[in-house]
Amino acid sequence: MHSLIIFASGRGSNAQAIIDYFKKNGGAKVSLIVSNKADAGVLDIAKNEHIPFLIIDKHTINEALLVEQLIDSNPSLIILAGFLWKVPDAVLNAFPGRIINIHPALLPKYGGKGMYGHHVHEAVIAAKEKESGITIHYVNEHYDEGNIITQARCSITGTDTPDSLAYKIHKLEHYFFPRTIEFLLKQL
Ligand code: GAR
Repeated sequence: MHSLIIFASGRGSNAQAIIDYFKKNGGAKVSLIVSNKADAGVLDIAKNEHIPFLIIDKHTINEALLVEQLIDSNPSLIILAGFLWKVPDAVLNAFPGRIINIHPALLPKYGGKGMYGHHVHEAVIAAKEKESGITIHYVNEHYDEGNIITQARCSITGTDTPDSLAYKIHKLEHYFFPRTIEFLLKQL
């Protein structure tokens, strides 16, 4: 059974989709959730699902201790699902090639620092793009620049708003993220 660790800062709908998928299909389980926000919705999910969680804080973080706690869960993959910090270097170095992120746009467009969640959808709509999508990629030391694993697309119509686009993007994410994780686990 593969162990997965999820890092998330927000509502956690992707975390929930991953938990649900592997509950139904087996082969992996989320063994730890890490958040940098004490009031993040993803922590309610952790509590409901009886998954251990850790809250990390910029001012008090002990990277070496965090790495030890992560190693304790023996993760096959570390999954960033709406995690808005840069991953600490010690974590990157401890899990080479094992950390993946989902981004709510077609990278390399609309990526980088400050480009997250709603900001991305607002920029895409403002630029009158005809399509957007999701990118699942490996994490390196630069925001949104690691090797791309897969992308999925959706079209944008003249009546789309940042909210309606966010809805389409979440649907793509909830479908493709668990299945991409499953695919990667099978290669390990
Ligand atoms: C997702 O759309 C994810 O792609 C995005 O945050 C959202 C989290 O939603 N991530 C980024 O923007 C990273 N740059 P969720 O909390 O409902 O899973």
